[in-house]
Amino acid sequence: MATHYYTASSLDGFIATPEHSLDWLLSQDIDENGPMAYPGFIAGIGALAMGSSTFEWVMRHEEGRWDYAQPTWVFTHRDIPAPARGDVRFTHEDVRQVHAEMTAAAEGKDLWIVGGGDLAGQFADAGLLDEVWVQYAPVMLGSGAPLLPRRVDLELIDVARNRSFMCGRYRVGGSDDL
Ligand SMILES: NC(=O)c1ccc[n+]([C@@H]2O[C@H](COP(=O)([O-])OP(=O)(O)OC[C@H]3O[C@@H](n4cnc5c(N)ncnc54)[C@H](OP(=O)(O)O)[C@@H]3O)[C@@H](O)[C@H]2O)c1
Repeated sequence: MATHYYTASSLDGFIATPEHSLDWLLSQDIDENGPMAYPGFIAGIGALAMGSSTFEWVMRHEEGRWDYAQPTWVFTHRDIPAPARGDVRFTHEDVRQVHAEMTAAAEGKDLWIVGGGDLAGQFADAGLLDEVWVQYAPVMLGSGAPLLPRRVDLELIDVARNRSFMCGRYRVGGSDDL
């Protein structure tokens, strides 16, 4: 069982604009049956974690619908309304505690840290992040929500092109706070 941070990024390392827009991403061409595409990835996932900005983006984008079948932990310090259906658990517990709960719920499947980048970094800081998968879109954003704002050393374990995207899969090889 492994914990993955799977995301798309601009070439200059942002996963959303400063206004939390993904228009630059959703307009790109991708083959859903191609290498490192989402359907193949999500099939192996048993539990999700995300920060509140990501949760709120999903709720806006899906007009209040929650389509994930897996139990999902949403990190927040606020009281946020839950979707009408779906297994969504709001938390501000330590990532180690949440990771243990996710592992128990995932029934042997892998875990997905959806984002944002700092939350993935919190799991990496705790030694709980195994892989980073990035689909790089052919766009520079100049500013926005960062991909993973930490020093984290990675080992490239797979690389592919999927239409507009340059896709990299990396093993987390240790981080250094110096
Ligand atoms: N390109 C992609 O594929 C992709 C993937 C994922 C996300 N995104 C986008 O990227 C953006 C990410 O936004 P973001 O950088 O603001 O990150 P985020 O992780 O989505 O949200 C950050 C918020 O989560 C809460 N949080 C984080 N860690 C916490 C902790 N340990 N305990 C309690 N609460 C915690 C805090 O919110 P509170 O104020 O609620 O406490 C924090 O302000 C979003 O627009 C999202 O839609 C893009």
